[in-house]
Amino acid sequence: MDRIAIIGGARLEGEIPISGAKNSAIKLMAASLLTDEPLRLTNMPRLADTRFLGRLLQRLGAEVVDQDGADGPETVLTTREIVSGFAPYDLVRQMRASFNVLGPLLARTGQAKVSLPGGCSIGARPVDLHLKALEALGARIDLHEGYVYAQAPRGLKGGEISFPFVSVGATEHTLLAAVLAEGETVIGNAACEPEITDLADCLNRMGAKVSGAGTPTIRVTGVSRLTGATHPVLPDRIETGTYALAAAMAGGEVRLTGTRADLITALIEKMREAGVDVAEHADGMTIRRGPERLKAVEITTDPYPGFATDLQAQFMALMTLADGESVIRETIFENRFMHVPELARLGADISVQGGEARVRGVAGLNGAQVMATDLRASVSLVIAGLAAKGETIVNRVYHLDRGFERLEEKLGACGAQVRRLRGEPVEEAAD
Ligand code: UD1
Repeated sequence: MDRIAIIGGARLEGEIPISGAKNSAIKLMAASLLTDEPLRLTNMPRLADTRFLGRLLQRLGAEVVDQDGADGPETVLTTREIVSGFAPYDLVRQMRASFNVLGPLLARTGQAKVSLPGGCSIGARPVDLHLKALEALGARIDLHEGYVYAQAPRGLKGGEISFPFVSVGATEHTLLAAVLAEGETVIGNAACEPEITDLADCLNRMGAKVSGAGTPTIRVTGVSRLTGATHPVLPDRIETGTYALAAAMAGGEVRLTGTRADLITALIEKMREAGVDVAEHADGMTIRRGPERLKAVEITTDPYPGFATDLQAQFMALMTLADGESVIRETIFENRFMHVPELARLGADISVQGGEARVRGVAGLNGAQVMATDLRASVSLVIAGLAAKGETIVNRVYHLDRGFERLEEKLGACGAQVRRLRGEPVEEAAD
């Protein structure tokens, strides 16, 4: 199992290119099941999660080709025929988003058998909203021994769905099924995350009729078939925010390119409030932080455009050294403070009660061995390590590899002392 070793204290100077969004790429890859023509995704991140989903799609009948295009890495997915509608437990358990193949399989062939994903380290994470939405589109759903058996022998029909609360995955899943359903579908209380808009844009390029993506009401007029298309994956807003916070933690001046400041407006506002200088450009932003101590600020995670839960752990790492007490409220997932005891090993002073963490800024952190528990928590430990005295070793970095492409290289190019200690390969993922 690989580990990452960081020697803290180096200021960061340079440029970091931001990759395509993991959370978009994996839904766009699932969309390729909806057509027998090639879907070419450009600006593709090369991550454990995308490789993993590629393998599942191949089992279902897709041909998946990774190649270097004129503008960087791309993947071409072609599913001339669905050869299997079965997604086994072992594959879905390892990556939750694999569950999203259910909708496209059902829409294209009228049947599917897909394992329930089960819980994960950040909470129970049920899929009840996904299943209710597919039922509203006319699917017959039976649950047996951990599997979803879904059928729509005469095809899916448009329907009205109003979610009781915002779910990114359920909104995307409904879109992936509704584009080939007969008639109109209206999705109420839809998630407004940029990844939803990206998926809708891609589906429209494939010939779908989706309007209202990015607002709480999405309308889909079903079409009988979709075609191939070329679509650039949205820049990764979580990677963008993570490196912005890394630069703020270490100090110095870092330019983030190939991304968009408007994807992380809520974070930028909080970083400015804390005393970080953020200059926005057409292709990204520059983060500057001098030697002065940052101020403690409060955050509450919320659906987009609120503060992203996927940046909560990284922001907490920044607050461990701020002046004063910061209150961090997590409202999306019930168990998303697992980084707290690990940050405490580095000397942070944090107490947690329910969904609220109080971070009392300390004068300095000290390097130690820490354990990555999930994807975003693990990168918060890397951020903390950048400012800790001495060496921090982050264990179980396979979590990191799921969502961050060439992390050591990107940070190293800006002067950070980060290296990978190679261990035995691991075939495990989590959420
Ligand atoms: C996606 C992101 C994840 C991000 C999250 C919230 C991907 C692969 N993952 O996860 O990185 O942290 O959005 O921005 O895109 N829920 C239910 N029933 C359901 C579905 C969800 O109760 O059927 C609950 C979840 O347990 C959670 C909340 O709804 O408490 C929001 O989850 P959701 O927005 O669906 O997150 P994901 O799509 O799983």
